[in-house]
Amino acid sequence: MNDPHPPALRGRCIAVTGASRGIGQAVARRLAAAGAHVLAGARNRSADVPGGIEQVTLDVADEASVNTYAGRASALGADGVVCNAGVGSFAPIEQATVDEYRRIMDTNLLGTMLVARAFIPLFRERHARGLVSRFVCVTSDVSARTFAGGALYTASKHAQRALVQTLAHEGQACGLLVTEIRPGMTDTHFNGRTPGDPDRAAHLQADDVAAAVVHVLAAPPHVRIDELVLHPAVQPVVYP
Ligand SMILES: NC(=O)c1ccc[n+]([C@@H]2O[C@H](COP(=O)([O-])OP(=O)(O)OC[C@H]3O[C@@H](n4cnc5c(N)ncnc54)[C@H](OP(=O)(O)O)[C@@H]3O)[C@@H](O)[C@H]2O)c1
Repeated sequence: MNDPHPPALRGRCIAVTGASRGIGQAVARRLAAAGAHVLAGARNRSADVPGGIEQVTLDVADEASVNTYAGRASALGADGVVCNAGVGSFAPIEQATVDEYRRIMDTNLLGTMLVARAFIPLFRERHARGLVSRFVCVTSDVSARTFAGGALYTASKHAQRALVQTLAHEGQACGLLVTEIRPGMTDTHFNGRTPGDPDRAAHLQADDVAAAVVHVLAAPPHVRIDELVLHPAVQPVVYP
């Protein structure tokens, strides 16, 4: 899983959503370094983007924006999508607002549905040519558990997991291999944080999660990886 340049990625095209920073940016950089062409979608652009990364303005909560993005991916012959864009929200239910509910659900759930729906025709067309495609979704370790203060975020991630598992069933008809990546605490910009805080030194790094994503994308076409769960070693063990 730690090979930074898997040869299986050279010349391929992968779409990565939420690629302007954090986990998505780390995935994009790993893929580009391995010789893939990356369609990096986000609302904002990153500075100092290496060759091989094509930045595209994308709002996953906007149907037209997602369809334009998928159209570009289709024109490039993308063989995989990393559905990673996501936002957090943590507060007691008593303080939850309708606006915050919509922001979380529109990005994490509707965004995943729109991206999956927009890419299915491309996957079907590839399947008709005997090719498999990959859909890798970064959900969370909380896609199957919850905690006080986590209602909106964990509900969105439970629902995202259900959508991804449904896609895995339906995707069998079009050669689609679906993987859920479930990271624990990761030191990124997530929820308004700034990476590098000393109190998060023991958390996963964005590149740890990116290595898992790239491992899945580089797997041979006869291998389906349904789910990967990653935690920092210091995080308490909680199942599932
Ligand atoms: N950090 C953690 O502890 C952790 C743990 C488990 C799972 N995750 C999941 O990992 C994924 C990536 O999060 P991260 O930790 O890397 O956070 P991050 O550093 O805040 O990055 C989030 C990315 O999502 C993009 N994004 C947000 N809303 C978007 C939208 N409407 N359309 C397109 N892109 C959008 C952001 O770009 P723009 O703002 O430029 O659009 C950014 O590139 C999320 O799904 C998150 O739920 C994170």
